[in-house]
Amino acid sequence: MRSTALFVAALSAGLCVAKPFQNRAYAVKETHLLPHDFKRESDAPSNHLIRLSVGLRQGRFDELEKHLYETSDPDHPRYGQHLSAEEVNELVKPGNETLDLVREWLHEHVEPQHIECSPAEDFMSITLPVAKVEKLLDTKYAVYRHVDGSKLIRTLEWKLPLHLHEHIDAIQPTTSFFRTVPQARTLVEVPDQSSESVNSLSYKHVKNPTVAKVCDTGGVTPLCLRTLYETVNYVPKVPGKNQVGLANYLGEVNNRSDARIYLEKYRPEAVKGADQFKEISIAGGTLSQFPATPGTGVEGALDVETILGISWPTPLLGWSTAGDPPFVPDADNPEVDNEPYLTWVNYVLKQKFIPQVISNSYEDNEQTVPISYAKTVCSQFAQLSARGVSVIFGSGDGGVGGVQPGGSCLSNVNNQTSFIPLFPSSCPYVTSVGGTVGFTPEVVAYDPRNKYSSGGGFSNHFARPSYQDAAVKSYLATIGDEFAGLYNSSGRAYPDIAAYSVNYTIIWNGTLRHVDGTSAATPTIAAIFSLLNDALIAAGKPTLGFLNPWLYKKGYKAFIDVTEGSTLGCNTTGFQATKGWDAASGFGTPRFSKLLKAVGLDDGYGHY
Ligand SMILES: *[C@@H]1O[C@H](CO)[C@@H](O)[C@H](O)[C@H]1NC(C)=O
Ligand SMILES: *[C@@H]1O[C@H](CO)[C@@H](O)[C@H](O)[C@H]1NC(C)=O
Ligand SMILES: *[C@@H]1O[C@H](CO)[C@@H](O)[C@H](O)[C@H]1NC(C)=O
Ligand SMILES: *[C@@H]1O[C@H](CO)[C@@H](O)[C@H](O)[C@H]1NC(C)=O
Ligand SMILES: *[C@@H]1O[C@H](CO)[C@@H](O)[C@H](O)[C@H]1NC(C)=O
Ligand SMILES: *[C@@H]1O[C@H](CO)[C@@H](O)[C@H](O)[C@H]1NC(C)=O
Ligand SMILES: *[C@@H]1O[C@H](CO)[C@@H](O)[C@H](O)[C@H]1NC(C)=O
Repeated sequence: MRSTALFVAALSAGLCVAKPFQNRAYAVKETHLLPHDFKRESDAPSNHLIRLSVGLRQGRFDELEKHLYETSDPDHPRYGQHLSAEEVNELVKPGNETLDLVREWLHEHVEPQHIECSPAEDFMSITLPVAKVEKLLDTKYAVYRHVDGSKLIRTLEWKLPLHLHEHIDAIQPTTSFFRTVPQARTLVEVPDQSSESVNSLSYKHVKNPTVAKVCDTGGVTPLCLRTLYETVNYVPKVPGKNQVGLANYLGEVNNRSDARIYLEKYRPEAVKGADQFKEISIAGGTLSQFPATPGTGVEGALDVETILGISWPTPLLGWSTAGDPPFVPDADNPEVDNEPYLTWVNYVLKQKFIPQVISNSYEDNEQTVPISYAKTVCSQFAQLSARGVSVIFGSGDGGVGGVQPGGSCLSNVNNQTSFIPLFPSSCPYVTSVGGTVGFTPEVVAYDPRNKYSSGGGFSNHFARPSYQDAAVKSYLATIGDEFAGLYNSSGRAYPDIAAYSVNYTIIWNGTLRHVDGTSAATPTIAAIFSLLNDALIAAGKPTLGFLNPWLYKKGYKAFIDVTEGSTLGCNTTGFQATKGWDAASGFGTPRFSKLLKAVGLDDGYGHY
């Protein structure tokens, strides 16, 4: 990590900076209330390792945001002119004073060669034992236990020397209780493994497939999804120039053997895909074929099988990021504790080439995340978006809150009942995908068997971005005072769009399973937009990049409105689907022929 250069820069900075005039006294930089689902258990073991990410104040984020909105606005002359890595880095690079002061402080505690910098130098990371972090941030870490029994090592307050307060925006892991929770709900194993419960037509070759012929609510296959969303006749033209990415966390694995069985059965021509997709380990993320914890691997199987089943032969790249490990007190080799999103996004931002669409099915309650962390991670997503990446997240499986085990509807801020929005869906620079069920018509998903309820809501951390102003205002007018006080009507509203999400047929551990969740809708949307990018590249046009400004202005016309069902939760119906955009299904579900038309690629009669 260019340690020599850093070191020299630091030495000269050390000589130039007028230390005696700085206020070296520490003051509280951030406090965060303990989320209701956690209880303090004990002091933290002093030798537990933490990979601390220090987020420096970015130089010209406002300018980056302006570029992002211009290049993703279909009516702007710069539409589609995505920024290069260098351009993005130049915009967010912290000012010299910020860099000098932060380095000087870190060098008092760590050898310069142990500091890792992001390409824009907006992040500096160091791995230290708890005892040293406690000294660095004048704090005390503790072990906190979640209601589900897992543990995290965090603190509720940390300090910084006063002169650094305006130069550092966020440091984690400190006060963030965020956990990358997969939004897949496993259903019981399908007892009949010969899969007769799945309509046999749904995976055999069918001439002129129709939804009526190939879709069965009892078990959804790629042929059904491709027919429903009209990609079934589309043959990718430039797969080598286009990629789709998939993020795994928490020891989730993408099992090639399961993917192979799945593709053999449901998309035979794509079976090579099971051996061809690439996998990259970040910060020691597992690439094992066998999940370390029983039960994991379902999310990974759902994601990889769904994407390959729809977008093959578009190359798939999977990242597995370690981190946020549930703390195990007596483990001999504790994993290094880090913030998985920051670790992942900073890794990806370092790459010259990034897949044009990224599927990410992991969310947590926004209130587990301190606002500084949310803003910092969200601004890293803005960097990805500015580089022309469509960043896709699921809207969550707990409705407006309180329906999944351990879920509550208590606000951290005032202990009042409240709808609980999710992060990163609440970040305005990502596209959030809700889930539907049923074919004629599709309605907002609820499955009483596992209480999966598609999520939707309004952020408390991020204000409503202007691209969705008109759509959200007209929705708010239709709901009037209903739910007043339970949600923040001025916040970023989600989801933006939706896709099918119940009874996905997957193969996991060699057996047929059915799975629900916005985790199913997310890879489906990622795969469909990846095919649309393929068509755009083949036609010599730029890829879509950040979808939302286009969606809210023009793209919504390519979606079939979902007008029934709601985001059930908190003992209410939750937000109801209505005509037009709503906080339950966004604009509804996509149709590929209409998408082609919306991006100006219609050839008149669907002969793409
Ligand atoms: C910051 O430092 C770099 C290299 O030391 C220098 O080229 C640049 O002009 C400086 N920028 C400002 C705004 O001082
Ligand atoms: C999901 O599939 C099961 C059978 O496997 C069926 O009983 C159930 O009704 C299906 N759910 C929906 C919403 O269609
Ligand atoms: C996978 O299936 C085998 C039986 O085929 C079983 O022994 C094993 O426990 C299963 N693995 C998991 C993680 O459930
Ligand atoms: C729903 O209402 C019941 C009965 O009043 C209550 O026990 C429960 O805690 C409520 N659930 C939520 C999520 O608020
Ligand atoms: C919320 O309630 C808990 C105990 O139930 C209490 O410790 C905490 O101080 C309360 N927080 C606020 C903001 O009232
Ligand atoms: C509601 O959202 C706005 C805009 O993001 C924010 O400034 C405000 O603090 C939020 N209110 C609450 C109670 O969180
Ligand atoms: C993963 O792949 C292996 C074969 O490579 C298989 O035996 C195993 O059951 C698969 N699934 C899981 C969940 O480990």
